[in-house]
Amino acid sequence: MRINFGELVIGDIAKKYLQRVLDKNWASEGDNVKEFEEKFAAHFGYKHVIATSSGTDANICSCATLYDFGAKRGDEIIVGALSFVATANSILAAGFIPKFVDIELETLNIDPSKIEAAITDKTKAIMVVHTMGKPCEMDSILETAKKHDLKVIEDACEAHGATYKGKVIGTIGDMGTFSFYVAHQIICGEGGMVVTNNDKIADVVRSVKSHGRPPDSIYFNFQRVGFNSKMNDLEAALGLEGIEQFEKNFNKRKNNLYKLLKLTKELSGYCYFTKEENYEKTSPHAFPLVLKDEKYDRDRLYNYLESKGIQCKTLFGSLPTQHNAFKFLGYKYGQFPVAEYVGKNGLHFGMHQYINNDDLVYISDTLKEYFKWFSNG
Ligand SMILES: Cc1ncc(COP(=O)(O)O)c(C=O)c1O
Repeated sequence: MRINFGELVIGDIAKKYLQRVLDKNWASEGDNVKEFEEKFAAHFGYKHVIATSSGTDANICSCATLYDFGAKRGDEIIVGALSFVATANSILAAGFIPKFVDIELETLNIDPSKIEAAITDKTKAIMVVHTMGKPCEMDSILETAKKHDLKVIEDACEAHGATYKGKVIGTIGDMGTFSFYVAHQIICGEGGMVVTNNDKIADVVRSVKSHGRPPDSIYFNFQRVGFNSKMNDLEAALGLEGIEQFEKNFNKRKNNLYKLLKLTKELSGYCYFTKEENYEKTSPHAFPLVLKDEKYDRDRLYNYLESKGIQCKTLFGSLPTQHNAFKFLGYKYGQFPVAEYVGKNGLHFGMHQYINNDDLVYISDTLKEYFKWFSNG
């Protein structure tokens, strides 16, 4: 038995759209991508949506729009210290420098009270991540952004369908990004999306994702530096099934999350679990937990869960100080105590729609078995 982090089942709707690819002999960006964009926009109420080849590319294209708003190469984008690496990599890939800020233990999101101190003359944007589907404190973030004339990019790659104070995540700031990798709530295999209600940003993203051409032109008219970040029709075929089944899958995942939180309530002395405030709807990306004391030994718990067939991942860690990739930026261990603590003491596992009630009881029993060792001394 193995409970995987994510599962892909390709059903009849996807097969119908895959057949369209076969019938048309057209597998790059085409009708499926267009229909996927239209359905995604209509479902969530976004004005503009632009499909990309991955969430990483959605992030890179979003950052690259800043050049059309006065940014220069080497300017800075503020970002939480803890996230999947693609967030910070995208900032660098677009030609900017990530300026890291510590996170909050309770939400795993950027700590809004620490943003202002990180702003310099070179800061052009704040890129927030709704980690594990938990919305960031957008009111406070938007207030800081407005005061310093900064754009806000929401990395919502883990937060499909989340809302904050009645507004859907992704367009509370200037633009938002989504991922459709297998672990996520709509799956294309690989794929991403940029969403925005701003006409100019949408035009620039459409250009940047296609080599910097103006959106309505083809071939060799390069207006700005761009990339090949287009989604293809094979990927969109899977996404079209995902969008049609979104509510059903979201509710199943959310019920799974609530059930497991209930089943593991007695472990609240050992772990911090995710919480939902009454002004938000969190998105059930996965099940994160952070140990309340290092003595509970995250690595041992991780190996224990894996040995019982429950696929685990750590909680990323502090990108600037717990990963070699960002050493060249010169941050020192200890600068991001919360992200570093979560990096050492956090893990997460899947909460997808194919996990059933027996699986949830099994996961909860396995966790309880593990912590029993500590209660028995
Ligand atoms: C927060 C975050 N940002 C960006 C990405 C990158 O998405 P992709 O894997 O589609 O490139 C991910 C992927 O898991 C993510 O979790």
